[in-house]
Amino acid sequence: MLPSLTTTPLSLFILSLFIFPSTAVPTTTTTIGFTYSPAANSPPPDHVVTALQSLKIPAVRLLNPSPALIRAFSYSNISLLLTVPNHLVGSFASNRSSATLWLYNNVLPFHPRARISLISVGSDVISSSDVSDPSTSLVPAMQNLHHALLDLGIRTVSVSTTFSFINVITTAFPPSSAEFQEPVNSLVVRPVLEFLEETNSSLLMNVYPYNVYQLRGEIPVGFALFQEGPFYFRDDVVTGVRYHNLFDMMVDAVIAAMAVSGYENVPLILTETGWPSNDEHMNAEESQLYAEKYLQGLVSHLKSGLGTPLRKEGAAEAYIYQLFDDTESNQTNNLSSDGGTVQKWGVMYRNLTMKYNINFDNADQNSRMLGVLVPSIYLLWLLYQLLFCLLVWIDD
Ligand SMILES: *[C@@H]1O[C@H](CO)[C@@H](O)[C@H](O)[C@H]1NC(C)=O
Ligand SMILES: *[C@@H]1O[C@H](CO)[C@@H](O)[C@H](O)[C@H]1NC(C)=O
Ligand SMILES: *[C@@H]1O[C@H](CO)[C@@H](O)[C@H](O)[C@H]1NC(C)=O
Ligand SMILES: *[C@@H]1O[C@H](CO)[C@@H](O)[C@H](O)[C@H]1NC(C)=O
Ligand SMILES: *[C@@H]1O[C@H](CO)[C@@H](O)[C@H](O)[C@H]1NC(C)=O
Ligand SMILES: *[C@@H]1O[C@H](CO)[C@@H](O)[C@H](O)[C@H]1NC(C)=O
Repeated sequence: MLPSLTTTPLSLFILSLFIFPSTAVPTTTTTIGFTYSPAANSPPPDHVVTALQSLKIPAVRLLNPSPALIRAFSYSNISLLLTVPNHLVGSFASNRSSATLWLYNNVLPFHPRARISLISVGSDVISSSDVSDPSTSLVPAMQNLHHALLDLGIRTVSVSTTFSFINVITTAFPPSSAEFQEPVNSLVVRPVLEFLEETNSSLLMNVYPYNVYQLRGEIPVGFALFQEGPFYFRDDVVTGVRYHNLFDMMVDAVIAAMAVSGYENVPLILTETGWPSNDEHMNAEESQLYAEKYLQGLVSHLKSGLGTPLRKEGAAEAYIYQLFDDTESNQTNNLSSDGGTVQKWGVMYRNLTMKYNINFDNADQNSRMLGVLVPSIYLLWLLYQLLFCLLVWIDD
């Protein structure tokens, strides 16, 4: 007789069958890439491509693409999001040949050896002085580029344009009440969404929790930096959803605004997000630590595959802004044209080592490992319990 066995009654075993631990196995994860704009003193593009390959970075957004730069990505299997400069939007709109000419220079010689996946016609055109009237030029420019691609027999490259959260979304507090701002919504955003739905493309949005945190003093920095803490949450009283980070609130504000416009199924790509390492309100060390916390939190959140409360698959892609610090910023306290300090958004030093300790590769492997390990340990435990119950039963 083994007395300890009697402490495991059959009823407890049966109960244990119903409390199988929930192991949310991620279905899709966001593709994480970087925005890359080479500066005069940054390393040669082919060295950069090699460094990106060894970090296993699957996607890069080129803000100022040039033929030489695109060529450097040939055979790299890194997918490319190209951006047409704002000053060309007008001519793309009025003349399809100018869109074709751009493709002849930037796409045709490299396709498909360089994996070009999407072309953004301009970036944040609604606040750009280079685009005189986006409401009449933006969608026609996108249509002309789309047709120019089809005329060249290229069907694997999507066309879109890039917006900035801060310039097009009304609020993120709460996300469910967000809409696209008028009049830009009726004049520009809605026609763009219609084009995106028709052509099976994605909405591109720059999303910076950093900017919202700077504007709203009452937001605890931990809430913006994906930290856990007693006050690091915000409730959306309309949907009853509790948000644990500012990033999810902003992404869901975009999703809600799309739903209000009637385009809730268009995929979302976050073309820029990041945190500068030289915030003028704090010392250098603290500021670099905050940037690291944001990027670590962002990457592990995106890799978790949990998506956001309003969109379980989350953003399709997210591009961290940006690979290198801008040229103007160097060790001395250089000032930008508006008198502020030039912000350093770079995540990589010019010697091609990472500024921050971020795990791009293994984060999802760990959660996948856990997803396999936890159920198998649990099953072993169940078998063990079953055996004990049988022994007790036989003993009785
Ligand atoms: C290229 O990248 C895609 C997705 O990023 C991946 O599915 C594919 O296996 C890669 N191909 C090679 C040859 O590495
Ligand atoms: C259209 O664009 C092409 C290529 O840039 C240029 O050669 C042509 O002159 C343009 N035509 C008009 C009418 O602007
Ligand atoms: C739209 O894209 C999805 C996924 O990329 C694809 O499965 C679908 O066939 C596409 N539809 C059209 C009409 O191109
Ligand atoms: C850094 O900025 C200072 C001016 O603030 C300038 O004199 C110096 O040449 C710059 N250094 C580099 C490497 O760009
Ligand atoms: C900042 O640096 C740039 C290039 O290094 C230089 O041209 C500019 O004058 C500097 N500005 C200030 C305010 O030092
Ligand atoms: C790369 O540059 C950074 C900053 O200049 C420096 O801290 C780091 O030690 C360098 N790494 C290597 C491997 O040279």
